[in-house]
Amino acid sequence: MKTIGVLTSGGDAPGMNAAIRAVVRAGIYNNVRMLGIQQGYQGLINGDLDDMDVSSVADILHRGGTILRTARSEEFMTPEGFRKALNVIDVYNMDGLVVLGGDGSFKGARELAKVGVNTIGIPCTIDNDLAYTDYTIGFMTAVETAVDAIGKIRDTSSAHGRANVIEVMGRHCGDIALYAGVAGGAESIVVPEKDFDVEEICQRLLKGRNRGKLHHIIVFAEGVGNAYELTKEIEEKTGIETKLTVLGYIQRGGSASSFDRILASRMGMRAVELLLDGKSNRALGFKCNEIVDVDINEALSMKKNFEDDLYETAKVLSI
Ligand code: F6P
Repeated sequence: MKTIGVLTSGGDAPGMNAAIRAVVRAGIYNNVRMLGIQQGYQGLINGDLDDMDVSSVADILHRGGTILRTARSEEFMTPEGFRKALNVIDVYNMDGLVVLGGDGSFKGARELAKVGVNTIGIPCTIDNDLAYTDYTIGFMTAVETAVDAIGKIRDTSSAHGRANVIEVMGRHCGDIALYAGVAGGAESIVVPEKDFDVEEICQRLLKGRNRGKLHHIIVFAEGVGNAYELTKEIEEKTGIETKLTVLGYIQRGGSASSFDRILASRMGMRAVELLLDGKSNRALGFKCNEIVDVDINEALSMKKNFEDDLYETAKVLSI
């Protein structure tokens, strides 16, 4: 019987549990011994792992967070930590390892693959910052959370006649801001991929006021910089009371959307199939409604394209 380990690493993302469930059940279906590793690469170093059966992943499909917990392990980057992790893989006779996480986690999988461990990466991050895939698991759910918040903030914004800057996550990537801004009907979207002009934001605000609009929403991606400074500047320049809301970690929690659960189920299944086919150093992606797999080196070296057309659409529709 073969043995496959699964771990979640880096920032958690909604849908990680759905992916764990899919990996574990696909493995068991194929008579593979499944090992769940706690707290990412750190748990691998410490040998913190357990056998998983069908029941270990029961009732988790809809749950946020990750039952395997997660970590950003610095020790794994050291030669000593890496050696310890390899030793655990050896002791447990792991034939493969499925890594659920973002680019940092994939780098770890790549290093292991270089020394002969069969690894498969499943992209789980709310940031959607991996260029080789249309969507990462967790992104759509984070967008839904942000859109829900925008709607609520708009209610109180209209009641008071205020403007609101809403900061969303995404690290260096503006996708959460772009998608949430479009779906939430934001008047302005500020992302790291595009220069922005405070004057233009203020003009839009004042134009809206002149035609009787009571709210004004500016979605701001955290990767741009200081949202508080922008909020102050808008208030000073327009004379309209402007509030800042930083959405923060609520974007990482909560029950995954159906889209993310389905993506996680498809990718989890495929990860096991690839390992059983003897494949390694592959990253799973989603392209044109197909699950694809690409070499991890290639996946990490690709430069992400910003969706300019969607950004322009948002500008036109929010006049
Ligand atoms: O990568 C996911 C993410 O939530 C980013 O959007 C954010 O910048 C970062 O993680 C926060 O990381 P931490 O959990 O270490 O504070």
